[in-house]
Amino acid sequence: MNLKILLLPGDGIGTEVTAAAVEVLKAVAKKFGHTLELSEGLLGGVAIHKTGTPFPKETEDLCQKADATLMGAVGLPEFDAAPPSQRPEAGLLGMRRVLDVFANLRPVRTWPALVDSSPLKNHVVEGTDMIIVRELTGGLYYGQPRGIDNDRAFNTMSYTRKEVERVTHTAFKLAGNRRKRVTSVDKSNVLEVSQFWRKVVIEVARQYPDIQLEHMLVDNAAMQMVLRPTQFDVMLTENTFGDILSDVGGILAGSIGMLPSASLGEKKGLYEPVHGSAPDIAGQNKANPLGAIGSVAAMLEYTFGLMKEAAAVNNAIGKVLESGKVTADLRPKGKPATTTEVGQAVSEAI
Ligand code: IPM
Ligand code: MN
Repeated sequence: MNLKILLLPGDGIGTEVTAAAVEVLKAVAKKFGHTLELSEGLLGGVAIHKTGTPFPKETEDLCQKADATLMGAVGLPEFDAAPPSQRPEAGLLGMRRVLDVFANLRPVRTWPALVDSSPLKNHVVEGTDMIIVRELTGGLYYGQPRGIDNDRAFNTMSYTRKEVERVTHTAFKLAGNRRKRVTSVDKSNVLEVSQFWRKVVIEVARQYPDIQLEHMLVDNAAMQMVLRPTQFDVMLTENTFGDILSDVGGILAGSIGMLPSASLGEKKGLYEPVHGSAPDIAGQNKANPLGAIGSVAAMLEYTFGLMKEAAAVNNAIGKVLESGKVTADLRPKGKPATTTEVGQAVSEAI
């Protein structure tokens, strides 16, 4: 099979983790007899520097030509004071919107080798295997009107029926292949949007009689995730809540550097590790590439339907974790491995 993939390394550690993920892709292609057709584009702060905008038209065209896009990270401290529309992050948000990747799948699992890496007690995190389905192209991130002046600033949280329905279908279909439980997370004791969200989710759920649906308020959900994470199978939530709760997932997985994600729509797939650009460790070959490598596994599975290949990547990640060759964020007993070393070890294990 020919795999046509666009790479958008972006900013900070994005370039380093993407390079490691590409090594792994090459190892998969070699082992399973696929060809890789890789292209590379600009996104985020690096795109602002070179073209004046965080999501240039050329990048958009490249996205549309590729079967799937692998993103590294966006964000640079020099833009901290810039308005949202002129920041590197706006590039990622624009791309998600243009590709219409409304469902962001963020699996959170505690690998057996990493129970000691989490600051939580072993018995709490052991066996965690959940997936957050974050709505990705609506809610506060995109709501109009929005604005800021001297004495007031405002954003709008808004969802249409169609937006809630389609991401709910994604969550229920996923649950059907897992432990058949969906927890829909909202703030329906305060927000109209959440009351609407809950109502639409209940309506859609009628089409999936074998899936158990429960509702949880977002404040409680944050607490339950660290109290008893094994209770969750599929967690469905809106954009902002999903952003916040998936960072909590980093604690369960041992480090946010472990978390992969798949952003899916009707057509294209965008694959992005959950972590950010981590300017504090950028350029030091210290970053954990496993979130990016896990995103490659997700790409093989969801865009290309290559289940054996995806499993090979995930098994290789497991093996490397068992070997103890991990980056500093996972608090290894011995000397921490570098980004490159972890990437090589995963490639070799394939
Ligand atoms: C994420 C990130 C992004 C988001 C930022 C970089 C815009 O935090 O993917 O979780 O908020 O969606
Ligand atoms: Mn985030």
